[in-house]
Amino acid sequence: MSSSGKSAFVTGASSGIGRHVALHLAKKGFRVAACARRQDLLASLSDELGSGHIVRSLDVTERSAVKETIGEIVEKFGSVDLLFNNAGTNTQGSCGVEGSEFDAVVDTNLTGAWNVLNEIVPHMKTRGEGTIINMSSICGKTAFSGVGIYSASKFGLLGLNESLFRELVPLGIRVTALCPSWVETEMAAHGPMPDAEKIQKDDICRSIDYLLSLSPNAQLKELVIECAADLN
Ligand SMILES: NC(=O)c1ccc[n+]([C@@H]2O[C@H](COP(=O)([O-])OP(=O)(O)OC[C@H]3O[C@@H](n4cnc5c(N)ncnc54)[C@H](OP(=O)(O)O)[C@@H]3O)[C@@H](O)[C@H]2O)c1
Repeated sequence: MSSSGKSAFVTGASSGIGRHVALHLAKKGFRVAACARRQDLLASLSDELGSGHIVRSLDVTERSAVKETIGEIVEKFGSVDLLFNNAGTNTQGSCGVEGSEFDAVVDTNLTGAWNVLNEIVPHMKTRGEGTIINMSSICGKTAFSGVGIYSASKFGLLGLNESLFRELVPLGIRVTALCPSWVETEMAAHGPMPDAEKIQKDDICRSIDYLLSLSPNAQLKELVIECAADLN
């Protein structure tokens, strides 16, 4: 996909991977619409992106706000060519926690991701083109001990991703889930993997570039990215 004149919508863009990807896509020539909840971080992102982009405060769990924001983006940009469906949160634990912890993770990582897809997919179907990248996790492929809630949300997202892959690729829409292990961000700061051995945010940008470089004949349902240090 040539990025010239194309538009991208990045959720979870205030920090970490989403922020890095939003800035990367803007450098590649995309008009970027970026959203998250933290206003101070969004203000500095807006300054860094400069003019021609859209930065909005949005909680992906609020279905009507998602609909309204995506409507505004489509109206201003004319289209959304690339969705980086990335907003997410995590928690430790599987059971024996407050129900509100389960709700917060599933509402964001699964329901929130669906809220965004539910608005973007009909738009892309009408146009018969587009690229959807859903941010799952290695925890969506393998359920490690002690992170059952997070894993359940990311397994769920992979199920949604696979159905959409089968439905939308024949219509000209690329659908891929990214499943990285530890990526060097605040979310992974308290894990056991030293920063120097984590996947870099630039590796996620390169993965997106790679997906965009493929011909329509080549379709990847999932891209699993391991940390070399985990393989010892
Ligand atoms: N870091 C890792 O090792 C790793 C590995 C595999 C997958 N992932 C996934 O990668 C994605 C990005 O994570 P990250 O590592 O970059 O962590 P991060 O820096 O904490 O980023 C999470 C982003 O999601 C946003 N967000 C959270 N809840 C939201 C909501 N309800 N509505 C809108 N935005 C919301 C946050 O912004 P606000 O708080 O401002 O809303 C933030 O911009 C997540 O889906 C995560 O599960 C991360």
